[in-house]
Amino acid sequence: MERAQEQIILIVDQDHDFLEWATKHLSAEGLKILRCDQADNAAKVVAKTKVDLLIADLQLQPFDGLELLARTRQASPETLVILTAAFPNTGQVIEATQQGAHDVLRKEALPFELRPVVESALQTAEDRRIAAPPESVGPAPDGRVKIIGVSRVLQDVFKIVGRVARSDAPVLVTGESGTGKELVAKAVHEYSPRRQKDFLAINCGAIPENLLESELFGHEKGAFTGAIAKRAGRFEQADGGTLFLDEIGEMPLSVQVKLLRVLQDGTFSRVGSNETQTADARIVAATNRNLAEEVAAGRFREDLYYRLNVVEVRLPPLRERPEDIPPLAEYFLQRITRKNGMAQVRLSAEAIQLLQSHRWPGNVRELENTIARACALASSTVLLASDIPLAAAPDQSGGIRRAVDALISAMPASAGGAWVLREIASRLIELHQGDLKNAALALGITTAELKKWHSGNS
Ligand SMILES: Nc1ncnc2c1ncn2[C@@H]1O[C@H](COP(=O)(O)OP(=O)(O)OP(=O)(O)O)[C@@H](O)[C@H]1O
Ligand SMILES: [Mg+2]
Repeated sequence: MERAQEQIILIVDQDHDFLEWATKHLSAEGLKILRCDQADNAAKVVAKTKVDLLIADLQLQPFDGLELLARTRQASPETLVILTAAFPNTGQVIEATQQGAHDVLRKEALPFELRPVVESALQTAEDRRIAAPPESVGPAPDGRVKIIGVSRVLQDVFKIVGRVARSDAPVLVTGESGTGKELVAKAVHEYSPRRQKDFLAINCGAIPENLLESELFGHEKGAFTGAIAKRAGRFEQADGGTLFLDEIGEMPLSVQVKLLRVLQDGTFSRVGSNETQTADARIVAATNRNLAEEVAAGRFREDLYYRLNVVEVRLPPLRERPEDIPPLAEYFLQRITRKNGMAQVRLSAEAIQLLQSHRWPGNVRELENTIARACALASSTVLLASDIPLAAAPDQSGGIRRAVDALISAMPASAGGAWVLREIASRLIELHQGDLKNAALALGITTAELKKWHSGNS
């Protein structure tokens, strides 16, 4: 095989005849073969030299091959390790694999297997030429949320957050699903003088209209059926802190009026009460809808829009900031491996390239899920492009929508079209285990649209 540069193999075995044989058997141009009969000497070589491939017997002195594997993983994570044994037992094979061995081979089979396995391992080593790890991405030292981003646009977001955090001005965070809106909302709170108090979140799209008002502003005992006791709303609870109104675009007009009042003069009333109350909660709202369009369509109050939109933080989709993909991927890798007590996993240059070429309709959330799945399936401690399970690109062009429309118009008028949409919607929702967001994503339509299909009044 062709090698860009000389590769180094270190063979460790107590049997000198074996060392002799393996050296001859493997010798090839562009390859340097070192050998050792003691595990401690081998560990020293690995620590000093850039060994591409270590081939070690399980039975060694003064410590065994598994221990040598562990030390190699520590001292030189890029080195691939192949373990050999006369009769490796299942436990040893499992343990070695878990600890990051590239392969475990039976001595008996080596005359046939050693060469092809080594060839492919060296190819892997070559493919891996690991991209330089981005600057350390541990948790933020002070325990605040960590937002990863090296792109110009994200750096600008950090600056806006830094500037607005000190004020009490309402902030509107916009961006596609999964771009990090909630994370930014938390950052606004955590970098504000309010950080000692609560950050409360409420999802306006997930609470039925008749309950949302009482959820936000509280209610008196007996205000409605089921209101068995007086209850404080989120506004009161977030007094002195921050109230995050997620999916504000889904807020019904009836509640929008009440919210406008709070934003105008800081007062509100509990449901079932005429008494005026005040609370000092800083509002951060988020939406993945285009609120200006919602205003134009009469679904969102214009005056409320301007009140909320004093400062807008726009999070661009991940595909518009590919520079952020490697550090984000590295960050998620570290988080996942640390959480599961796994050996450190790295990304090959080729894997990074693949990640950067994907469209990421689900943005950072999709990247996070993809990395988690890749980690679970990875066969070694470096992720190759082939380890990364990318979802098929969803239909961006609205092609499915058009296909469905064509189907409906081809049907006899008497059949109606709504049930087709309903069928498709419920299948998809089922397929995505009730996750509307993912189901809509797969179809290339918005969640609101999917809901409409599902309820049958499209
Ligand atoms: N820049 C980032 N750095 C680190 N993690 C991020 C970043 N952006 C997003 N994430 C992570 O991606 C996931 C999705 O982010 P988040 O929930 O903030 O998105 P969202 O914009 O609120 O999405 P949705 O509209 O679907 O609610 C979270 O796990 C979040 O921690
Ligand atoms: Mg969110």
